[in-house]
Amino acid sequence: MKAIILSGGKGTRLRPLTYTGAKQLVPVANKPILWYGIEAIVAAGITDIGIIISPETGEEVKNKTGNGDRFGAKISYILQDKPAGLAHAVKVAQPFLEDSPFLMYLGDNLVQSDLRLFCEHFKVRNLDALTLLCPVENPTAFGVAKVDADGKVLQLVEKPKVPPSNLALVGIYLFSTAVHHAIASIQPSARGELEITDAIQYLIDQPKQVEARQLEGWWLDTGKKDDLLEANRIILDTCLEAAVEGEVDENSQVIGRVQIGAGSKIINCTIRGPVTIGRDCHLENCFIGPYSSVANQVTLIDADLEHSVILQGAKVVGIQQRVVDSVIGQRAQLKVAPQRPKALRFMIGDDSQIELV
Ligand code: G1P
Repeated sequence: MKAIILSGGKGTRLRPLTYTGAKQLVPVANKPILWYGIEAIVAAGITDIGIIISPETGEEVKNKTGNGDRFGAKISYILQDKPAGLAHAVKVAQPFLEDSPFLMYLGDNLVQSDLRLFCEHFKVRNLDALTLLCPVENPTAFGVAKVDADGKVLQLVEKPKVPPSNLALVGIYLFSTAVHHAIASIQPSARGELEITDAIQYLIDQPKQVEARQLEGWWLDTGKKDDLLEANRIILDTCLEAAVEGEVDENSQVIGRVQIGAGSKIINCTIRGPVTIGRDCHLENCFIGPYSSVANQVTLIDADLEHSVILQGAKVVGIQQRVVDSVIGQRAQLKVAPQRPKALRFMIGDDSQIELV
């Protein structure tokens, strides 16, 4: 079996972070979202992986992720020259997929589930499509499935106004080669895209064997800031292992599960885990509270933060109030003068959000 991971798209909901990079490379607990997907696929025993990239962010995805050696996989990159839909991406990947059944994974999703079980179910039942579902509160924002008691899919609708159930399609699918004929037979949707949901509905109407399984663990679609913070919280809670490689001085306290990367200096700080701090950071006179991820080369001086994600090379200096629920972009700088500031001076990127609450 092969796998494809879709890693194109513009990431409009994560602006401004995604003005300068791919949404799939935004880190969760200091690791790009995309890498969690690669690891889950490799853990399911699939090592021949094609990553679908876009002209805008493809080079960055390729440079950062490499040929797959670090994951024990062989990664090929496949260019989708326009964002013409998920089914269009499969069409573009057909020369890579050849006659192999395959797993398709949307690169901005994070799931806690053993994909191996789904691969086995797909093989044993000799299916043409297996979709993964998760109950949600807002089904109108997703593809939605109507399923019978045996797990057979009866109907799929993309972003329905009146949802037939609360079961959303998680962005993970397994397909036999029958899907290629289905994709060749469908027309673009109202939003002008070749929808994978329509291709699966075509298989259902044939009728081909299409089933669904519900995820047992959590599922996070990391499209927005709050989803990203939630993903960060869950990953730190469930996966972080304590490891201190950097230098922690005698005036500092490190409590709970904390990771500190090589070359980082922690001076007169209290760090209360779960917290991950990358390499070559400088932290002085800070309190770093639970559920914070600090990327490489970050400087934090006289700062207090909690439940926040600080990206590579950012600087936060002299903030009296606690920084909470925040995402601070790469190389962004936030400085407050030591005496009570008399003015606020900003240089803020497009679509940034600042709240003094
Ligand atoms: C896509 C699929 C949708 C699915 C969702 C999961 O939607 O079309 O069926 O529920 O991913 O994240 P999109 O994110 O492209 O709007």
